[in-house]
Amino acid sequence: MISVAIDGPGGAGKSTAARAAAERTGLKYMDTGAIYRSLGRYLRRSGVDIDREEAVAAALPALDVEVFYNEEGQQIRINGEDMLPYIRTPEAGDAASRTSAYGCVRDKLLQLQRDTAERYSVIMDGRDIGTVVLPNADLKIYITADPQERGRRRFLELWERGRRDITLEGVTEEIRQRDERDRKRPIAPLRRAEDARLLDTTNRSPEEVTELICTWIREKEAEQ
Ligand code: DC
Repeated sequence: MISVAIDGPGGAGKSTAARAAAERTGLKYMDTGAIYRSLGRYLRRSGVDIDREEAVAAALPALDVEVFYNEEGQQIRINGEDMLPYIRTPEAGDAASRTSAYGCVRDKLLQLQRDTAERYSVIMDGRDIGTVVLPNADLKIYITADPQERGRRRFLELWERGRRDITLEGVTEEIRQRDERDRKRPIAPLRRAEDARLLDTTNRSPEEVTELICTWIREKEAEQ
């Protein structure tokens, strides 16, 4: 069993590289941002005032969050509803960033993430994986890239998904605000774990990033 923790800000290329590296190395990939997005989106759609922690805390006990795997990879259901079709939007990202700052939300999702790492060899990506969720991970990587480049990547991703109501400036600014919120929150803020390897992807292709991560994973596996 091996566990790999990947953290970093939005648009740095974490999920693309983590998913590809997991496929190549046979590890399970857990996208923890997708879980926070699902929960944030579900809460907002249910009419909960997500800017009030008490309102979110009151709504949480009635929500059954399930994460499981099938041939298409990680699946997320809340109260039986498949959330994946609704979470790759800036609105879901915003709801995730706001609600994930609350201790009650983080507590609800912590064990779910740790259970997966206990059951499988995993690559998990998020903001606090190396610092909070899996502090004893075998390999920790902090992935980053220049803010302009991260904005450009997120813009292209959304454009390719058919969004035509966005601008590069708007997406870049949104990412900047979200990072600032994720970094400054008191509970489980985004930060590099002291023992995490730093990987700047600004001038690296997704293929290079994936290859580098696979090399590090194989090295760790060889040590075990
Ligand atoms: O990686 P992402 O863009 O899908 O994450 C969406 C938001 O979820 C992010 O702005 C902060 C939150 N998040 C978190 O607080 N902790 C994680 N481990 C993953 C995501």
